[in-house]
Amino acid sequence: PAAAPVAASPAVTAPPIEPRDLEAAARSVLPTEVYDYIATGSGAEETLAANLAAWRDLALAPRVLRDVGGVDVSTTVLGTPVSSPVQVAPTGYQRLVHPDGELGMATGAAHAGSLLALSTRATTTFEELADAAGPWWLQLYVLRDRDLTATVVERAAAAGARALVLTVDTPYVARKARATAFPPAEVSPVLVPELRARADEGVWQDPGVTFADLAWLAEVSGRLPLVVKGVVRGDDARACVDAGADAVWVSNHGGRQLDGAVPTARALAEVRSALPDEVEVYVDGGIRNGRDVVRALALGATAAFVGRPAVWALATGGAAGVGDLLVTMRADLEETLALCGCASLADVTPDLLRPAHPHR
Ligand code: FNR
Repeated sequence: PAAAPVAASPAVTAPPIEPRDLEAAARSVLPTEVYDYIATGSGAEETLAANLAAWRDLALAPRVLRDVGGVDVSTTVLGTPVSSPVQVAPTGYQRLVHPDGELGMATGAAHAGSLLALSTRATTTFEELADAAGPWWLQLYVLRDRDLTATVVERAAAAGARALVLTVDTPYVARKARATAFPPAEVSPVLVPELRARADEGVWQDPGVTFADLAWLAEVSGRLPLVVKGVVRGDDARACVDAGADAVWVSNHGGRQLDGAVPTARALAEVRSALPDEVEVYVDGGIRNGRDVVRALALGATAAFVGRPAVWALATGGAAGVGDLLVTMRADLEETLALCGCASLADVTPDLLRPAHPHR
């Protein structure tokens, strides 16, 4: 009789999708300027590259002879149950890559049991999303018009947002290295009609926002939890929490804002150690597979968010593509945990990491 096939790890439920392959597939279906707009970083794209490399620089030191017969990666993020620590970062203008836009992204995330952060620059209305979305947060830019900002926040709260994510690394939109004149003016954000009407009037980001505005935001949202996204320093993280933030999201906007900014894998430890244990820390930037997620968790993150991979998945497969990406990343995380000798997320501690290039 033929030898029985080697059993796949019970953790693995789907063939691996490498976001590298997804990106290539998306590139072949998207118009060049759309692909470039999503792929691009700012400046010389130093941070874009460094984000990816910095995770790989952290070598894993697996534990052996632990019982990893059952691996559970479900967790909670700000109290919301999620199927894994992998969530979807906010990215603008999703209808550029697929006709279903944010609706597809929300459906895919909900199917996989992940949380969705919806961009202020969404091309779908709150109403359209209502039935499709699982748990979601609104990513917010404070606009130059505070009344309009308050309107967006109030509608989000009424539509069921579970938290507000204030993005703070974008006082001005940095010039992109590629796709410099994109998106075109006719692609306007439509979350609320007032925003669509004013989108071309220069109402965007108010560069005068400070820590003092966090309390105002908490007030207008009816005290929704507030997450501050785009922090890479321990002192700023502490100041955010002192000013009323409930959680801090380590990000450099996927290398699209300050080029030369510290990669998030390196910023995470500084931010984590500046905050009390009970304050959740999230991270994004170059997270591409289960190894990267384990590295982020080992550095103290509660959740890791993916930006571009989710957009490539939407572009190539709509809602199903997004669901597949998230389910595959979950399976990859389960396998990685098992191979690290960890049966649960609580077993993922900083001692799993070694610098990959100790002599560099
Ligand atoms: C973004 N990002 C972003 N962030 C935000 O707070 N509001 C936004 O509207 C957008 N829009 C946006 C568009 C596109 C095309 C990209 C690629 C990114 C940043 C995003 O939330 C996240 O921080 C990064 O994408 C994470 O890095 P990776 O996963 O793309 O490497």
